Amino acid sequence: SSPVKVGLLGLGVVGGGTWKVLARNAQEIARRAGRNIEIVAVAVRDVPKARQMVGEDVLVTRDAFEVVRHPDIDIVVELIGGDTLAHDLVMEAIQQGKHVVTANKALLAKHGNEVFAAAHAKGVMVAFEAAVAGGIPIIKAIREGLSANRIQWLAGIINGTTNYILSEMRMKGLSFAEALADAQRLGYAEADPTFDIEGVDAAHKLTLLASLAFGIPVQFDKAYTEGISNLASEDIDHAERLGYRIKLLGITRRRETGIELRVHPALVPMERLLANVEGAMNAVQVYGDAVGGTLYYGQGAGELPTASAVVADLVDVTRLLAADPEHRVPHLAFQPDAMDDIPILPM
Ligand code: NDP
Ligand code: HSE
Repeated sequence: SSPVKVGLLGLGVVGGGTWKVLARNAQEIARRAGRNIEIVAVAVRDVPKARQMVGEDVLVTRDAFEVVRHPDIDIVVELIGGDTLAHDLVMEAIQQGKHVVTANKALLAKHGNEVFAAAHAKGVMVAFEAAVAGGIPIIKAIREGLSANRIQWLAGIINGTTNYILSEMRMKGLSFAEALADAQRLGYAEADPTFDIEGVDAAHKLTLLASLAFGIPVQFDKAYTEGISNLASEDIDHAERLGYRIKLLGITRRRETGIELRVHPALVPMERLLANVEGAMNAVQVYGDAVGGTLYYGQGAGELPTASAVVADLVDVTRLLAADPEHRVPHLAFQPDAMDDIPILPM
């Protein structure tokens, strides 16, 4: 059968990784998806730089809407970031009847309810595995693997940059600024790294996980958010001497009166699993009433691990294209008309 045609918006850390993984594992991916997956158009700011990577057969443009509206394209992959242009591009893609894959947690945490409602109305999929915890398939785990459970809580390290900074400060004695500069060089940090440092990126992700786990609307504005910018090396050393590691945790939990949704630094006893997650690794613990405790661990940021999640979504969407639209799996864990309005508790 003919290849699935993809338009790629952004060819930076994640977009470049997506291009590489699709090229590197093309045969393996086609065997899984049932069809070849072909990138036919790319939108970037720096066209000559992108041209060096993708060759002459691919349309390369500065006009991302040209890609979104391209008649041949079945799936739009949004890897530009931000919640302004990316919002308009994703909404336009949906209106054009295209399926969307995105790694953009900022966009979905702010506009997810609107995006998912529009996608549902139009009968297209919006897949976002790469938006949370990089290469760890945590969205699929909650949506599919744990769908038999009433989920009680989930907690974890869901920002690679801050975990990397805390590890480098503790293990190598680097300053906060040096460790952050390394995280940026390695492609872990957001375009605006204050999102990482102030806990905003982790809160974006936690908001999405809470929506999937509890079947509630996306409510980023109600998350309690505190980052690591006030921590000094001495805090890390004191914690160590007392038998703890400082970790930036995202925690969401059902209580009788509502749901806790919070991101903040926490003292984690050294012998606990989460205390031993180092560098840009992420780890998420999810507790379901039937399964009990589960743990998901892996690289939470960076080029190829994040691309692994983007391409997995491309494979998923490609498989689902073969199904009757009525029988496609919803992109959210709960049916859109079965969302529960449980309040988020003030912290
Ligand atoms: P980069 O800054 O590395 O890449 C952004 C890309 O978008 C670049 O190719 C850039 O073009 C292009 N771009 C920016 N503005 C425009 C525009 N107006 N028109 C056309 N192209 C544009 O970002 P990342 O790859 O790191 O992040 C992309 C998304 O993935 C973000 O939403 C981020 O939050 C998310 N993410 C990132 C992870 C990571 O580890 N880096 C992990 C998980 C998610 P040019 O190259 O020409 O400048
Ligand atoms: N800036 C993010 C992080 C990228 O450091 O975790 C992955 O979402």
